[in-house]
Amino acid sequence: MAFPPPNSLPWSPSVFTFLTPYLPPLPSPSTAREDGLISKTSTTPEKPFVTLTYASSLDSMLALQPGVQTVLSGPETKALTHFLRSKHDSILVGVGTVLADDPGLNCRLAGAGGYGNELSEPSAPGELKWQPRPLVLDPRGRWAVAAESKILRLAREGRALAPWVLTDLAFVDDERAELLEGCGGKIIPLASEEAGNFEWEDILQVLSSHGLQSVMVEGGAGVINGLLSAEQQALVDAVIVTIAPTWLGQGGVVVAPERRVDGKGSAVNAASLDKVKWQQMGEDVVVCGVLKK
Ligand SMILES: NC(=O)c1ccc[n+]([C@@H]2O[C@H](COP(=O)([O-])OP(=O)(O)OC[C@H]3O[C@@H](n4cnc5c(N)ncnc54)[C@H](OP(=O)(O)O)[C@@H]3O)[C@@H](O)[C@H]2O)c1
Repeated sequence: MAFPPPNSLPWSPSVFTFLTPYLPPLPSPSTAREDGLISKTSTTPEKPFVTLTYASSLDSMLALQPGVQTVLSGPETKALTHFLRSKHDSILVGVGTVLADDPGLNCRLAGAGGYGNELSEPSAPGELKWQPRPLVLDPRGRWAVAAESKILRLAREGRALAPWVLTDLAFVDDERAELLEGCGGKIIPLASEEAGNFEWEDILQVLSSHGLQSVMVEGGAGVINGLLSAEQQALVDAVIVTIAPTWLGQGGVVVAPERRVDGKGSAVNAASLDKVKWQQMGEDVVVCGVLKK
């Protein structure tokens, strides 16, 4: 493979300094990941640092309709997404996103592991120091893992880590497990109380037990709305949302978590941000913050 590969993204670290307060803590030299690499983060082992991040339209849509990949980010915010990927141990998406987009879930910044050797701390070709672990929430085994899936192809080509797929114990099957293991991935079996719906605490606990200390939750709407629910939002450490200057219109895939109810039974805002920073990048705007307690 030629280095850097032709679809590398050019970038400049100084453009992203505004993100620093919202990023996972810096690594300590002693933190080692299960795969033998040094972890990018050094938070407590009980729960990884959770960053919720996605690109939205002005009407809070992620896509034109379920199952349709919709480009929202401009080149600047696309590079931001890949910069964030380089700062996390893992990226998590729901199976709906994998089925709709066949995503790569890797970091394509020029110079990142698998993408050339131009940085001050270079990765050797094939060494995937900057690459996050792709994680797929697929409780009922709906993703028919195939050798030609983009994530698996990138892993075989040394341009991504292989995916780990979180699946309900009742839906683990040997064929999928073999395909994943063949490229260095695996199925992580997990118990669910309500069929196919994992508790977020269990998800995060199992990620910690596999040595992952930070996770960037990228979508789609089902996953984001779930994490923004009143019961789960305390698990989120940072929120970074790109807003593109367009309305996708009715019928799209919407980020709209359920409203909370106060002590008097009245509906109140579902969630709000604190420590807010707005930054324009190209034609998009990026809003960063932490969820108000
Ligand atoms: N603009 C962006 O930044 C962005 C980012 C990502 C995706 N997208 C778009 O979003 C759309 C997909 O969104 P989506 O809402 O349809 O799907 P999704 O959120 O990617 O996946 C939803 C599925 O994930 C599983 N899941 C979610 N929470 C779970 C939990 N707590 N425990 C166990 N499983 C859980 C469930 O699978 P089961 O149904 O099998 O139980 C659920 O139906 C696509 O069109 C994609 O292009 C946009």
